[in-house]
Amino acid sequence: MATQDDLKRIAAQKAVDFVPENEYIGIGTGSTVNCFIEALAASGKRIKGAVSTSQATSELLAKFEIPEIRLSDVLGLPVYIDGADEVNHTLQMIKGGGGALLAEKIVASASERFICIADESKYVSRLGKFPLPVEVIPHARSLVSRQLLKLGGEPELRIGFTTASGHEIVDVHGLTINEPLTLEDTINKIPGVVENGLFARHPAHVLVLGKTGGAEVIQIGSL
Ligand code: 5RP
Repeated sequence: MATQDDLKRIAAQKAVDFVPENEYIGIGTGSTVNCFIEALAASGKRIKGAVSTSQATSELLAKFEIPEIRLSDVLGLPVYIDGADEVNHTLQMIKGGGGALLAEKIVASASERFICIADESKYVSRLGKFPLPVEVIPHARSLVSRQLLKLGGEPELRIGFTTASGHEIVDVHGLTINEPLTLEDTINKIPGVVENGLFARHPAHVLVLGKTGGAEVIQIGSL
């Protein structure tokens, strides 16, 4: 019986096929991404370097001697590879379980193609079982939380966690997410919200799903 980690490795391995040689790429954050970095290094495929979205990713890139470049030093990126906490059938996602959603959304927005890598447990028909991470300016946390309550969610401060930009994260449980695009915009308009983990404006272009029988590649439209 394959474990969840095995399925993450299956997806990560397959994602190496989507990496263009001799280019800079964007790389997300999380355990599936860690598998991807290891698979990329083991593949011998050469890239110019990567834009990282977190300290943890940067450390792993350094371990495998993959050069890092800042987003501000490239015009754009052909590909962004990242995991997700949930991904629906139109490849919209909830992300931010690892707390790197702000950098992830910025780098995803600068990339032509988002390749999402996930084990099959993350593939859902409706987003929202996974609590939605919302990054907030600390002194606005209570104000934002009251607005999130009005939207039907149950906000919970992620205790003892500060983002790379010095903000807090409120995880919102129990949201009914029928219209991810609208909700993403609605939450981002609340004063004090820095970003939220709905990736509906920036969905994945390709989902590489790790399944027991092997990797399944799902894409919406042509690339
Ligand atoms: C980090 C993320 C991750 O992509 C998400 O949490 C999935 O992580 P993992 O691959 O460890 O399951 O959004 O902010």
